[in-house]
Amino acid sequence: MSATGFTPTQLAARAAYLLRGNDLGTMTSAAPRLYPHMWSWDAAFVSVGLAPLSVERAVVELDTLLSAQWGNGMIPHIVFANGVDGYFPGPARWAVRDLAADAPSGLHTSGITQPPVHAIAVQRILDHARRRGRTTRGVAGEFLDRRWPDLVRWHRWLAHARDQQEHGRITLYHGWESGMDNSPRWDAAYANVIPGDVPPYVREDQMVITDASQRPSNVEYDRYMWLVEEMKMSKYDDIALNSTMSFAVEDVFVSAVFSVACDVLATIGEEHSKPHADVRDLRSWADRFRAGVIATTNERSGAARDFDVRSGRWITTETLAMFAPLLSGGLPRDTERNLLRLFDGPRFCGHPDFKFALPPSTSPVARDFRSREYWRGPVWPVITWLFSWAFGRRGWTERSLMLREEALRQASDGSFAEYYEPFTGEPLGSMQQSWTAASVLDWLG
Ligand code: GLC
Repeated sequence: MSATGFTPTQLAARAAYLLRGNDLGTMTSAAPRLYPHMWSWDAAFVSVGLAPLSVERAVVELDTLLSAQWGNGMIPHIVFANGVDGYFPGPARWAVRDLAADAPSGLHTSGITQPPVHAIAVQRILDHARRRGRTTRGVAGEFLDRRWPDLVRWHRWLAHARDQQEHGRITLYHGWESGMDNSPRWDAAYANVIPGDVPPYVREDQMVITDASQRPSNVEYDRYMWLVEEMKMSKYDDIALNSTMSFAVEDVFVSAVFSVACDVLATIGEEHSKPHADVRDLRSWADRFRAGVIATTNERSGAARDFDVRSGRWITTETLAMFAPLLSGGLPRDTERNLLRLFDGPRFCGHPDFKFALPPSTSPVARDFRSREYWRGPVWPVITWLFSWAFGRRGWTERSLMLREEALRQASDGSFAEYYEPFTGEPLGSMQQSWTAASVLDWLG
């Protein structure tokens, strides 16, 4: 390794090697030790990274995930690898097979969901397949035909079960569903979660990451576990959860992702002659959620907010969630310009002491900012990828490339860390994280 790190060619080779190493056969573990199973949104990003290496293998990844889809349409946040322990809460704690009418019988899963980024992966797979030979194109086309109804079912479940009042915003019943587990966005909502009788447990994450400052605290974990107990009491029933869960938030970031994903899937549907009714539904959800996101924004800055359903309060913590409308669009032009200025400025990417001009999970000037702690400050490469992808899609090529360039500089240390300290660039959390490698592969592809 030189002083400036690995060259792009070396980096791409290492990223590919990493994904091969984390490959368990028909699923890629999110990370070798900390996360030895398949996570839903990780699997989608992993497929984005696999597609340039092997369209066939990328298809297998999404097939595995979709074969764990619940009867109601939910894609669960974890699909457990057979015979692999070492993660808590595991299948026994979720107990979905015993309690949930909709849980699949073939595979073990958790009982909550994660952000709907999967349509992006499908699009990437089809794009790569188009440049390959007939056989590969056939594999991708056959996959789309086979899984189209499941993908639409997944989106329909989100639009119905998770937006029962049709606000155009996805309701979450656990912070883990946001994918940004301990973001300070959720602090106030969690403060109202009073853990009852939580069966004893041992945190396995602390045995892998022994520096406690990089992981959520025990107080946080008790609440996480209590919410699982609440879900079990409601038998994971969509209607029941809506009234029984002591944590319920409308997540503006997930809502924006959903809006974009609906548009992406609708376009795929049009291009591949899928049923008009599906395409029409997808477009109408894209519009509804775009509007739902815009309805939360500050008139001047354009910044979006989450909503705490239980307390009836808006959540104004300065985090990545503020930038949700940049993903899904719909802001007036001047307001959008203000929001981009905020994104570029010293409260986010442009903080003068940052090592790289990349979006931190929480603003460094926010009261709750902690530079090393998970979603409370560090930079997550996969989130940079998402913004870079979304900016490219919106026609902001230069912005998209700038993020890519900065992210590749950050990644040139070759650790493929889960997240990075924004001031020093120190790699933190799990090393060899699959979705970090996948992001790098897509950028270098
Ligand atoms: C952590 C992250 C979550 C991710 C999972 C596996 O729980 O917060 O977003 O999906 O790890 O990488």
